[in-house]
Amino acid sequence: MCCLRQLFLVSLGVTAWALHESDVGMVDWNTKLIGVPHDSPHTAPVFHGDYVLAATNNNVLAALNATDGSIVWRSIYDAEDPIMAFSHHDNSVSSLSGPGGSTLRTYDLETGHLILEKQLHNPVDGRLHEPQNLGISLLRSTNLSLNSTAYFALTNGDSVTHLDETGDTLWTWNSPDQGSLVLYSHLIADPSTVYLVGLAKSFASYTLHVTTLSATTGELIASVNIPANIKDERSKFVAVSSQTGPTTTTCVNWLEDGALKAAVLTPDLKGQIMALPGVKYDRISDFGLSTNGQFLAIKEGGAAHVMHFDAQAYSLRPIWEFGDAAPSQVQSDSHFVGSLGRDGQPRVARVYWSNAHNKAIHQTLTINLSEGKASASGFAFPFQTFDHGVVRHVAFDGSSTGETHENTRTLLTTTTGSIQLWQHDKMQWVREEALASIQVAEFVELPEKKVVMSHAVMDEEGYFERLQRQLSDAKNLPQYLANFARRFATGSYATVTTSAASSSAEDTLTRDAFGFRQIIVAATPYGKLFGIDSSNGRVLWSRVLGLGWAAKVGGTIFPTKMFVTRTVSDPEGPQIVLVTQRRADNSLVDTVLFHVNALTGDDVREEHQSIPRDLLQGLDAVMGPLVDVFMLPNENRTIVMLDEYLQARLYPDTPSAQAEFESFVPSIHLALRTDVPGQRQILGHQLTLNLELSQFYVAYPTWSLSLPPKEEIRAIIPNTRGPVASIGKVLGNRMTLYKYLNPHLTLVLTSSPPSSTLVPAAGGVCDMQATLTENWLVYHYFDDEFSGTGESKGNRVVSVEFYEGDGPDDKTKSSELSSYSNKTLHISAYEQSFIMPHGITAISPTLTKFGVSMKDIIVANRKNSIQSIPRRLLNPRRPKHKPTSEEQEEMLVQYDAVLPDDARLVLSHNYEVATSAVSLPLHLLLESTSLVFVYGLDLFFTRIAPSGTFDVLSENFNKVQLLLTACWACGLRLWLTKPMVRRKWLRERWY
Ligand SMILES: *[C@@H]1O[C@H](CO)[C@@H](O)[C@H](O)[C@H]1NC(C)=O
Ligand SMILES: *[C@@H]1O[C@H](CO)[C@@H](O)[C@H](O)[C@H]1NC(C)=O
Repeated sequence: MCCLRQLFLVSLGVTAWALHESDVGMVDWNTKLIGVPHDSPHTAPVFHGDYVLAATNNNVLAALNATDGSIVWRSIYDAEDPIMAFSHHDNSVSSLSGPGGSTLRTYDLETGHLILEKQLHNPVDGRLHEPQNLGISLLRSTNLSLNSTAYFALTNGDSVTHLDETGDTLWTWNSPDQGSLVLYSHLIADPSTVYLVGLAKSFASYTLHVTTLSATTGELIASVNIPANIKDERSKFVAVSSQTGPTTTTCVNWLEDGALKAAVLTPDLKGQIMALPGVKYDRISDFGLSTNGQFLAIKEGGAAHVMHFDAQAYSLRPIWEFGDAAPSQVQSDSHFVGSLGRDGQPRVARVYWSNAHNKAIHQTLTINLSEGKASASGFAFPFQTFDHGVVRHVAFDGSSTGETHENTRTLLTTTTGSIQLWQHDKMQWVREEALASIQVAEFVELPEKKVVMSHAVMDEEGYFERLQRQLSDAKNLPQYLANFARRFATGSYATVTTSAASSSAEDTLTRDAFGFRQIIVAATPYGKLFGIDSSNGRVLWSRVLGLGWAAKVGGTIFPTKMFVTRTVSDPEGPQIVLVTQRRADNSLVDTVLFHVNALTGDDVREEHQSIPRDLLQGLDAVMGPLVDVFMLPNENRTIVMLDEYLQARLYPDTPSAQAEFESFVPSIHLALRTDVPGQRQILGHQLTLNLELSQFYVAYPTWSLSLPPKEEIRAIIPNTRGPVASIGKVLGNRMTLYKYLNPHLTLVLTSSPPSSTLVPAAGGVCDMQATLTENWLVYHYFDDEFSGTGESKGNRVVSVEFYEGDGPDDKTKSSELSSYSNKTLHISAYEQSFIMPHGITAISPTLTKFGVSMKDIIVANRKNSIQSIPRRLLNPRRPKHKPTSEEQEEMLVQYDAVLPDDARLVLSHNYEVATSAVSLPLHLLLESTSLVFVYGLDLFFTRIAPSGTFDVLSENFNKVQLLLTACWACGLRLWLTKPMVRRKWLRERWY
């Protein structure tokens, strides 16, 4: 039997991991995303011709097609290289990134090709301020007389670099009192002079400091303090410049006790301070027209003035008042954004929400400076606040405005993470960029028969069905084999490919023959929950999470965990519960639950659904943060939350749930971030929960079984294990290695390794990716300095397997050990390190329904592909010599330090899939096949068959394989029916 199995696997060969070419695009899909745009001044979205340029929270610089919202190009920056500022100029886009703005890059606007890359200072020398892009500014200027463009970059708040078009440094200037009191934040350049403006801290307030440099040589011309008495952190100052003929005149504006003051800058910095008498302002801001001489000043009552600095007349005055701009009961705060029209004259857009109209209002101000005229007009547009939250940022295409509003284009970024382009009152496109930041996701099976997307109530479950369901747990495997036999006998089953392709019907949500089509429910930190069709990646429904009482003060909802509490086999239909932490802006943290129907997104807790749908309101389950949360493996699937005092709270909190919880208490094992190992009181129920602090496994190259100091624990990753199909491994010499299956075995990632280990403290330890499944640990890190062994530095994957006792045939019944038993340390480990061609950003094991199929590891790498690494390659027992016949029988292949970069192991084909997380693959109705959902920036979905699809007829159906499959399946039945153990992982029978 054992031989048969081997024969079978050999017959499939390695190619079994790769999909058929014809399956690409049929069984998998890929959604490219950019992330939610920043909304800070240097990096917020802007229009540039028919492009929208944006830098995002996923650290991506992207150019979108403004007409259809597609990604024209994107550049993904490393985490250590955050985008600080970008600017656009004719046919190129430039960015400053890294600590203090260390790196300058320029891309071709149309293609996104990198034209220039230049390090301005060592990232280690970067100083970060608050906000982090303060003191960083990039200017691309055209020198008309020389007919050339050049860069001026302000970095670290104290250095200026002037570069020519090719990136050659023309000069650099460093502030003589580097890191001192002056922090420059603004850089303005005209053909002869560079102006640097910053704040200097004095006793109780800030003063302005201005320095002028020669644009040609970088020599200091003058440096003065302007005795401005700026108290208010919020408004600070605004620098505007205005062009008169070939000369540019710059004016710095600030508020002093509500009075607007201004200083016109000249190269020698000798000048007067002007004051605008009579009007008291609350704050001033740059709204996109600073190079045209305009900025915004908000009066104390809320009215907004558009200010204009006229260089010719040396005057500063308000040219327009938005009198009704104060937020009130009937309207929200307004967003103001300026942009130049096609005629070169300023346009100002004001966008706000009107409660009276239940719509968003867009007002456009058209200014004609030469004629001294201005006029405003507006329209309402149907922004869907229940689907998209609140507008967070507005970008405006001034060149789209005309006599009518017909073509007026506005780009909104919303609090739920969507980007929307509105042309007049029509939404042209929307991108749900929150999906680039999915925190938790679950697969939910679809019902078998046609189910209308409504609240169909099924009949009371009959006695027979109930019995059937209760028995089904125990009967799953034989039933699966029966299904297999039936399919086999009739030969009428669709192939894997067609079954997925045919699932395009949109009005009904039904399962395909093999259950490949599922709903992926995904929660994002932008307060939005999505239901996604796994067959094509389309969003089926979405809900915006309500803030509850925190709506009054504002707050953020962070998804923690999601549980599938009801499945298709339950009469209520599939349901999920999302557990979140709500952090209100007044710093209170609460635990809030959301309970929805997975097919429709309907609130399960609410009897009647309002139409149109309102915000999804949660249940404030725990006043305070959570320590841990899990679901009881009972029929009610009760959710147990442990609060910071280790009190257990149940959802739903019913007497029967409590009774069930009590019955489960003795068998619950949790790894907690607490100091004292041992028994803890569960206060709420006066129960003693068996909260043994398990023997923590610490993922170091030299692994240990001791608990690291609490402050070093970075993450506790539970052992991801499904059913255990076998508890031992029979070796070629007929001895058995017994798997170490201690239920307490947990993976703990620490922030720094102990000094005794080989990983250097400054290396890639923070980057460590790890997974623990059953008795198998795999981790990845970047090895900076692999001393001692003579091996070079690089990306390393380490595979460790744990077995009971001292070696083969030694057993300690580890699955039943209490963590207090000394025997838990009676363990042997096999460990081997491999070199990976590329760095890994996420790692996950494959799981299958019964744990029979071979487990693989799925990794997302820095080359933006998703790869499957067969367990055989990662076997730590691979011999360093030519395998002996006994080893060959065990299918051990000779050790090779380098894991192959084999195209056949790539699951994502030619797609570029940039990600940071791989969901735990879901097992299906088929034992052989797993669904893989990858998220983190892009979304990618595919399915894999680690041991080949032995239970589906392949397209190239062949008789030998058929015979082998049949024999194997029969063998499988005999071999497996007994040890299929439920609940308690293993019974002693096998020892
Ligand atoms: C944007 O998309 C439109 C329509 O899909 C296309 O006609 C246009 O050429 C695209 N523009 C760019 C800059 O790619
Ligand atoms: C500037 O250079 C471009 C090409 O580099 C040329 O087409 C253009 O005529 C030049 N303009 C002037 C004013 O010299």
